Amino acid sequence: VERALADGPLRGRRVVVTSGPTHEPIDPVRYIANRSSGAQGTAIASALRDLGAEVVFVTGPADAARPAGVEVIEVESAVEMRAAVLGALPADAAVFAAAVADWRVATASDSKIKKQAGRLPVLEFTENPDILAEVSQLPEGRPGLVVGFAAETDDVVAHATAKRLRKGCDWILANDVSPATGIMGGSENAVVLISDDGSEAWPRMGKRAVAERLAQRIAAALGAPAA
Ligand code: CTP
Ligand code: CA
Repeated sequence: VERALADGPLRGRRVVVTSGPTHEPIDPVRYIANRSSGAQGTAIASALRDLGAEVVFVTGPADAARPAGVEVIEVESAVEMRAAVLGALPADAAVFAAAVADWRVATASDSKIKKQAGRLPVLEFTENPDILAEVSQLPEGRPGLVVGFAAETDDVVAHATAKRLRKGCDWILANDVSPATGIMGGSENAVVLISDDGSEAWPRMGKRAVAERLAQRIAAALGAPAA
């Protein structure tokens, strides 16, 4: 179903969206991953499409149904997600909603690691590429608007403000994922938009509403539709 608005404010704009977790293999049957339903990323892709954008949706293995009317690229690991994102550029904007695993097992085993009573495997980890930081700091072909997420606990705005500067993205949508908020795994989100202009707390609302509001803000930031 093609639902993009032919005359929407994002007509002619190309936006890359990452979503879902990544799975980092330990062996053929085991992996490590972050928690992510993919719901917020999926809602963002749909909202951008509804405003007329051409969306490339790069998703890890998530439960959420894939959005219609967008180009979907399925990946497993952070290394694969990075390659898909870089391959989808150039773009006018990029939104990084994926919960990317920070580490992968240095040498995943091709054969299944067998359980041996009393003997525990020792896994050695290596750092995954930081896709948001890399795209934010591309010397050439950087999208005009780069948006990251920051799931934090404790001092949410301070952590996310530092993260925005460290990575070099334009905006960060920060949310408080402390268990008490009930945000993780729920249908609502409470975010703070952090930009050069400071921080703006949005009221708690459904993930689709967050996505629609973000899409509107992206459209406003990019300006009049491309020719
Ligand atoms: N991100 C990414 N690639 C990674 C890690 C994170 O693209 N390897 C993106 C996420 O999609 C998100 C943002 O970076 O938009 C912030 O992710 P987060 O995990 O909060 O940041 P980290 O720098 O990994 O910090 P930490 O996990 O220690 O809080
Ligand atoms: Ca992380």
